[in-house]
Amino acid sequence: MNKKICLNQITLAVLTSLLTYPVLAEDKSKGDFFDTEAKSLVIELKSSLLQNLSREISKNGTESAIPFCHTNVKSIAKDAAKEKIKKYEFGRTSHKIRNEKNSPEAWLLPYLEKFQGSFFDQTKVNEYPIIGQLPNGKRFYAEPLFVNAQCLQCHGENLAKNVQEKIQVFYPKDKAIGFKLNEFRGLIWVKEK
Ligand code: HEC
Repeated sequence: MNKKICLNQITLAVLTSLLTYPVLAEDKSKGDFFDTEAKSLVIELKSSLLQNLSREISKNGTESAIPFCHTNVKSIAKDAAKEKIKKYEFGRTSHKIRNEKNSPEAWLLPYLEKFQGSFFDQTKVNEYPIIGQLPNGKRFYAEPLFVNAQCLQCHGENLAKNVQEKIQVFYPKDKAIGFKLNEFRGLIWVKEK
């Protein structure tokens, strides 16, 4: 079950990454690979997070994956990103935050607003990748994350009591529950340092 969900997410990531869009296109002739690198970084981050999460849940259960998530997400992400983290910053954010450290930077707010309350729509995947430029000239890339069945265990409407309690211990101000299947959960983003 978990494996299937994981694959669906990865398939989606790959499909999304194959789409082209004209805004601020990289210029490979000038050694500029921003679009390609940012997209592949997002794919690496997503698949490595999902794999690690699935592995921990199936090994030790959902409750134990909460502190695991808390302490290991950044290092997992850094392992996955390797060389690219010298050039790029990255993270996850949401309109409903669990960890305040993931609070959105100002440039992410319009995109959170755009997707908030929406549900995954296969016919719109080509509208999902976001690419843009900050006032300081640095470029960014982001993709919406939608809730699958696995996410519901920790972000859904009916959490198991032990899971709910553990979340409250680590994140007393948690706002990241009450999501429905396929609902927009947040954004994964990359920007130039
Ligand atoms: C085992 C429980 C668990 C599962 C399953 C889970 N998450 Fe989370 N999620 C967390 C925890 C804990 C955090 C806080 C991580 C941190 O401290 O940075 C978090 C944080 C996030 C964030 C960062 C924004 C915030 O609220 O701090 C996003 C986005 C997110 N999760 C999306 C997802 C998606 C999408 C899925 C399904 C693919 C998922 N999560 C599955 C526990 C879980």
